[in-house]
Amino acid sequence: MWLVPGGPLRLCFRLRSDSHNEGRGVSDTATSGLGGEPATGSGAPAGGVAPGARVATRRADRQAWGVPAVRLFGVQKSYGPVVAVAGVDLEIAEGEFFTMVGPSGSGKTTLLRLIAGFERPDTGRVELGGKDVTREPPYARDVNTVFQDYALFPHMNVIGNVEYALRARRVPKAERRRRAGDALEMVRLAGFGGRKPVQLSGGQRQRVALARAIVNEPEVLLLDEPLGALDAKLRQDMQIELKRIQREVGISFIYVTHDQEEALTMSDRLAVFNGGRIEQVGSPVDVYERPASDFVADFIGVSNLLERDGRHFTIRPEKVRLLDGGEQAPAGSRVERGRIEDVIYLGMLTRYVVKLEAGGTLTAVRQNLETAAAEALETRGRTVSVAWRDSQAYEIEHADQAGAAARGEGED
Ligand SMILES: Nc1ncnc2c1ncn2[C@@H]1O[C@H](COP(=O)(O)OP(=O)(O)O)[C@@H](O)[C@H]1O
Ligand SMILES: [Mg+2]
Repeated sequence: MWLVPGGPLRLCFRLRSDSHNEGRGVSDTATSGLGGEPATGSGAPAGGVAPGARVATRRADRQAWGVPAVRLFGVQKSYGPVVAVAGVDLEIAEGEFFTMVGPSGSGKTTLLRLIAGFERPDTGRVELGGKDVTREPPYARDVNTVFQDYALFPHMNVIGNVEYALRARRVPKAERRRRAGDALEMVRLAGFGGRKPVQLSGGQRQRVALARAIVNEPEVLLLDEPLGALDAKLRQDMQIELKRIQREVGISFIYVTHDQEEALTMSDRLAVFNGGRIEQVGSPVDVYERPASDFVADFIGVSNLLERDGRHFTIRPEKVRLLDGGEQAPAGSRVERGRIEDVIYLGMLTRYVVKLEAGGTLTAVRQNLETAAAEALETRGRTVSVAWRDSQAYEIEHADQAGAAARGEGED
């Protein structure tokens, strides 16, 4: 049983309509400490309290303590000459959906493994729920990990897989069944308990892996590119599912992806990794609209970096206007001439790549409101005016240093 300051708060899935009564049975003992939560109190409404209410209570408690779920101080890790994590300081709040995004090899997996305890840092400290766990083995950390290759036990059925961690902890059978059933319901796989992994689709297997990881109610769930093996459509569905599950269980999720769009759509906050360092931490809006470096501007979204009079700035493609013959730019805009070098028809949108006479290239996107594909494609090679509002051009401070860091130059 993992204790956190202020008393253990364990999460109990009570999604079924009969779960209120069940919740007052065995699980309260095993989950020791739900007493203060409305879901277990006698005053709880029939049918149990909505998961959101429990989560809110839990969060309010945590926030009152002011203890982040995860705190990293100066964490570094090298493998021989390779610096995988080059000094990371980070705090992740209770119940937060936090994403680590960055190119391949930027140290994301290594940092997850350091949090999980599969690796020890060369220097620095890892805290979970305010407790220093730097020297603790993985099993002593209240953390679970979901990997891309979900590694289900092929000889066990779904229930067996999901129950596994509970069995290892000698949770009584009836409670095991109930909790595994609740976890499967959470991932919308109720009724699949008897199947073997080979009888499931990729997406279903990933859901089982998720159920298995949340069934013992860790404080933090680490997910390393969990949707990487799924096709694009399924990925999008699972992104929405994962968000829902995270909201319902109220566990802090630390989600690793190299996909910037996924990072923007799913996260409360994200950290952009580059060469073992974090270039920027912020909300999706912060990172997208106010990138801290050239690297971030380039990695998150279409870069559109321009340099004018020694100043670096970025304009997002949806803010760049292509002026049709004679059209006036709105007041407060900067207008430049250029040539359409490339036209990429994307169905809903068309992307125009414009080489500017004053130097640099801008990408503009236009919704295909009236334009037909053929018309759009015909514009290739034309000279055009492009305009953007000054207020939409975001200047990147210290672009030189950030750019150097992004290229791995500098201190080391
Ligand atoms: N066990 C290891 N032995 C040697 N080098 C490693 C090991 N794990 C990771 N690395 C190296 O550390 C760097 C960061 O890797 P990783 O954390 O896996 O990046 P990411 O998950 O962002 O792709 C890479 O250069 C990688 O080759
Ligand atoms: Mg990785």
